[in-house]
Amino acid sequence: MEGIAIMTSGGDAAGMNPAVKSAVDYARKKGLTPFLIRNGLRGMIDGDIAQAKREDVSGILHRGGTVLRSSRSKRFFEYEHRKTAYENLQKHGINKLIVIGGDGSFAALNQFYADFGVPFAGIPATIDNDIPGTDYCLGVDTALNMIRDSIDSIRDTATSFSRAFVIETMGRHCGYLAMVSALSSGAEICIVPELEYDLDAMGERLRKDVKDGRGYILAIVAEGTNMAEYLTRWIKVNLNMDARLTVLGHVQRGGSPTVRDRIMAYKFAVSAVDSLIAGNTNKIMIYKDGTMGSVDIETVNSTKVELNKDILQLCEHLSK
Ligand code: F6P
Repeated sequence: MEGIAIMTSGGDAAGMNPAVKSAVDYARKKGLTPFLIRNGLRGMIDGDIAQAKREDVSGILHRGGTVLRSSRSKRFFEYEHRKTAYENLQKHGINKLIVIGGDGSFAALNQFYADFGVPFAGIPATIDNDIPGTDYCLGVDTALNMIRDSIDSIRDTATSFSRAFVIETMGRHCGYLAMVSALSSGAEICIVPELEYDLDAMGERLRKDVKDGRGYILAIVAEGTNMAEYLTRWIKVNLNMDARLTVLGHVQRGGSPTVRDRIMAYKFAVSAVDSLIAGNTNKIMIYKDGTMGSVDIETVNSTKVELNKDILQLCEHLSK
């Protein structure tokens, strides 16, 4: 029996469920026996592993988060716990793994591969879109649509009260969500770690706008800059406008996966199963310049995240 186990690990992202379903269905079609590991790396150590039944993955495709649940396990850093995880896999005859998560999870599985030789394929999933080597990670489109809905709502109240709103988006150290959201919602300000900002120039530009009749301001700030509270005070003092701060928080991580996330989940899952069947041992699935592919984990570890240059350029004037 050729067992293949599927797990989700790290921060949850919309698209994980359709990826789980597609991986299970496709693996079975290819003659493998699919297993599900619940609770991520923690579940691997605790033996939370069972053969996938059809009903486990039916009716999950449209659900946000991950039905397999997730974790960020510190125990997995220790060899003794990884050994226990390996023994658990052996009990079930599992000799292939698919991990749907971020680069931390990929690194953990790579260490596991080095220790015990269990091949794995990684599917990038994080709303931050910050995994090197791929243009797209599962969850990003759904998060962007959640953010768009929130900003549209905020705009209603901002226009009604002639106020400025500073809206903080997630993204840890990456400004992708903030930039795309600023562009798609026509924001006046965008502050992200990747772009230098100039508050003096911004003040001059916006004071002129307000004088010319601009009634409200939307400012999108990436959490990684830690600038949201400061900017809210700055707007009050420098633009003489009432300002409020909204931290969107975890609402951005939830919601039913968009069409894009469902289709991308399908493509990533099929690539991951095919990659393992082809005998690859530690590849990460990628979507680059419109094409699916895969790269060695070392490439992910040694490459810097490259943000889309067009988006960076389009946002530049919103930081000044
Ligand atoms: O990596 C995904 C992410 O949602 C980041 O955008 C955010 O900084 C972080 O996870 C939040 O982590 P937690 O859910 O552990 O609070």
